[in-house]
Amino acid sequence: MRRLTRVLGDREKLAAFGAELFADVALASTGVFRVALSGGNTPRALYAKLSEEPLRARVPWDRLDVFFGDERCVPTDSSESNYRMAADALLSRVPVRPERVHRVQTEMPPEEAARRYARELSGPRFDWVFLGLGEDGHTASLFPGTPAVTETHASALAVEVAWNKAWRVSLTLPVINAAKKCVFLVSGKDKAETVRRVLEEPATPDLPATLVAPKDGEILWLLDRPAASRLTKPSQA
Ligand code: 6PG
Repeated sequence: MRRLTRVLGDREKLAAFGAELFADVALASTGVFRVALSGGNTPRALYAKLSEEPLRARVPWDRLDVFFGDERCVPTDSSESNYRMAADALLSRVPVRPERVHRVQTEMPPEEAARRYARELSGPRFDWVFLGLGEDGHTASLFPGTPAVTETHASALAVEVAWNKAWRVSLTLPVINAAKKCVFLVSGKDKAETVRRVLEEPATPDLPATLVAPKDGEILWLLDRPAASRLTKPSQA
């Protein structure tokens, strides 16, 4: 596993760099390019960059197979929906083939939605998995203390989030760690201490993001300067 860290000046430069890199890697690929989009707020600006020229013309949209790293079990028109965020910022603005956008069917009960999603996931490894980082060290919806963190078989699981009792569906580490490239996108000073712990301390299930380690793939940490501000090893930044 190769791990690279790149620090960009600010949130805007982070989005621009990440979008450009994604477009170049997708364009350089051959055949179907499987990507898992991350949710939350951070990737929104990157998705918007991909939906605008010049990158819009560079991405081979007709070869993309789009999945989601995780989803909140809410209606697709909810402001909490990762599908809605990606659709608004990107998918509704580019010629990706609708049948190749694989959303989690949140209209179903969480366990059933996870089982169906796991079936849709079966197939070749991901070419690119976008990941975010929570201040508690979660990534996707692999929250500390949840069974999903240590799952070794299922590709996707329903997860009950302790602090708000809400349900989510998440990719699990067997799928994430089979990817060719896992790209963390992290912005903001509030994440700096967690970034330092994840990048500079030993892997532990208490910080699920530390368990992302693609067997024969690459991890790329794209950080803005505030998120990287607590790193102590200059080689990291
Ligand atoms: C989600 C994400 C989650 C997110 C982190 C960071 O559904 O919320 O998948 O893992 O990436 O919580 O979220 P922000 O980008 O909003 O800080």
